[in-house]
Amino acid sequence: MTEVVHTPRVFSGIQPSGGLTLGNYLGALKRFAEMQDTGGMQTIYCMVDLHAITVWQDPDKLAHATRELCAGFLASGVEPEKSILFNQSQVAEHAQLAWIFNCVARMGWMKRMTQFKDKTGKNAENASLGLFAYPALMAADILIYHATHVPVGEDQKQHVELTRDIAIKFNNDYGVDFFPVTEPVIEGAATRVMSLRDGSKKMSKSDPSDMSRINLTDDADAISKKIRKAKTDPDPLPDSIEGLEGRPEARNLVNIYAALADLTPEQVIAEHAGQQFGTFKPSLADLAVAKLEPISTEMSRLMQDPAEIDMILRRGAMRAREIAAPILERTYEIVGMVR
Ligand code: TYM
Repeated sequence: MTEVVHTPRVFSGIQPSGGLTLGNYLGALKRFAEMQDTGGMQTIYCMVDLHAITVWQDPDKLAHATRELCAGFLASGVEPEKSILFNQSQVAEHAQLAWIFNCVARMGWMKRMTQFKDKTGKNAENASLGLFAYPALMAADILIYHATHVPVGEDQKQHVELTRDIAIKFNNDYGVDFFPVTEPVIEGAATRVMSLRDGSKKMSKSDPSDMSRINLTDDADAISKKIRKAKTDPDPLPDSIEGLEGRPEARNLVNIYAALADLTPEQVIAEHAGQQFGTFKPSLADLAVAKLEPISTEMSRLMQDPAEIDMILRRGAMRAREIAAPILERTYEIVGMVR
C-alpha cells in the first residue's frame, strides 16, 4: 500500500474561552509567528471553538472570543498570507476524524490525562463527556493535516504525546504507515509562564485574580502595575542561573524578560546580576509595555471590523479543507467505510 509522504507541517490551536494571557502569547502566539518565517514549513493555526464548548460557553461571548482570538493571532504577527488561519468548527473533518480516534484511544490512556483531572478535581462525574474526550479531538486537529510539528506550551505536552500514541495505534491496527508521529515543539524561555501572584501556579485565564496574569488586552498602566506588584522574594537577582533555584517567582520574571527581549535567561541574569527587584521590575515593566501595548492597540483596531475577521476565517477554512478532506477520505477507506 503506498502512503502519503509526511512533509513537515506545523499545526497548533488556541481555545477561544476567555481572553489571551501573556502565557498564551509567549508560549504560543509569538512562537507561531516565528515559525511561519523560519524552517520553510507550512503553518496551520486554529481557533478551537469545538474544544471551548467542553465547558459551557455563552454563545454570544464565544463568538466574540473567537473573533478576538483571531485579532490576537493577527496582532501577534501571524499573517493569513503565510499561514492558514481559521476556526475549527468551519472544518467538519476535525470532528469526523475525532470520532474515529475516539474508537482508537483507550479509556486507560484518557484517564491518565492530568489536565482533565486538574480541571474537574472532585467533580469529574459532573464534567461533560466532551471534556473527557477532548484529547482525542486534539489529536484529530493535528493529524487531519498530517502535521509533524506542534508548537505548544509545556502544559500541552501530555496531549501531544497522546496524539503520538493514537497515530501509532491506528497505523498498527490497520497495518498502514498513514499518520505521522508528531513532535511537540516546546521551545524558548517561556514555555511555562507562571502566575504573578504565585510562582508555583501556571498563569491562566481562569485564575480568579486578574493581578495574577497579564491579559493581551491590558493597557500600559495595567501591565506596569501588575509587574510592579508581582510577588517576589527580598533577595537581589543572583549572578548565575543556578542562583534562581528555589526562587520560582524570580525565575518567572527572568524568563518573561528573556522571552520578551529575545534573550536567553542566562543573558538576562548576566545583564541584571545583583539588581534589586525595585530596579528590575520597572525595566521589565517598560519592556513588557513596549512589546505588548502595540499588540493590544492592534487588537482593538482589528475588532472594529468583525466582517473582515470573519472573511479571513472563512478563507482560511477553505484552504484547510483542501488538505483535510482527502486525508479524511483516505482514513475512511483504510477503516473500511464504503464510499
Ligand atoms: P490553550 O488554549 O489552553 O492554550 C493555548 C496555548 O498557550 C499555551 N499556554 C501557555 N504557555 C506558557 N505559559 C502559560 N502559562 C501558558 N498558558 C497557555 C498552551 O500550552 C497552548 O500552546 N488543548 C489546547 C488547544 C488545542 C491544541 C490543539 C493545541 C486544541 N487542539 C492541537 C495544539 C494542537 C489548549 O487548551 O490550549
